[in-house]
Amino acid sequence: MNTIGIIGAMEEEVAILKEKMSEVTVLEKAGMEFFKGILGGQQVVIVRSGIGKVNAGICTQILADVFQVNAVINTGIAGSLKVEINIGDIVLSTDTMQHDVDAREFGYEIGQVPRMDTRTFPADDRLRETALQVCRKVNPEIQVFEGRVASGDQFVADKETKEKIIANTQAYCTEMEGAAIGQAAYLNGIPYLVIRAISDKADDSAHMDYPAFEKEAIRHTVNLVENMMKAL
Ligand code: ADE
Repeated sequence: MNTIGIIGAMEEEVAILKEKMSEVTVLEKAGMEFFKGILGGQQVVIVRSGIGKVNAGICTQILADVFQVNAVINTGIAGSLKVEINIGDIVLSTDTMQHDVDAREFGYEIGQVPRMDTRTFPADDRLRETALQVCRKVNPEIQVFEGRVASGDQFVADKETKEKIIANTQAYCTEMEGAAIGQAAYLNGIPYLVIRAISDKADDSAHMDYPAFEKEAIRHTVNLVENMMKAL
């Protein structure tokens, strides 16, 4: 049976999914609790990675090494980088990129880790197509977009930083883990997908919007991920 790893950075992003699991066993590693069990008839390992790229990369490697997962899904919230993508809407990653990697001094483009052969990490088409169909069905009240996700160790909450990230990445949303998961998945040859609901606009209103809309945004991703497991 295939096993799917599901990563959320924060407890709020995975708590409801964990409650919906059956046949649960727990393994602790690197300060993270890995909940193995069944969700929507699918064998899954659900884990809170902690915030940021390093935590997310470590978490993905453990899913690969210890649980030999066949796919990784990263669920959570993000700041919108496009006017038409509203709070509550969902972005499915076509690919991911680190907006805070900068070795231009050596002739690399923004986002490219020196001596790696790519600056973007393509997400899996089949996972994205399934997520798209399921999302339209179970979250009909919101818009769902397919596009690039830009990640960095930075909560983006001002217009200037936001504009810089847009110019450098052409991404649809920004968060703090997706591209690290993408990089780890790429290195291990594991299909992956980032699913993010928008909690704020990554601008000067982000500090206020984020806490207000976090719960609502998470409700949409939980609904999608649970139903996606049934469809896979
Ligand atoms: N996650 C949710 N909103 C975010 C933002 N504005 N910047 C980075 N990560 C986020």
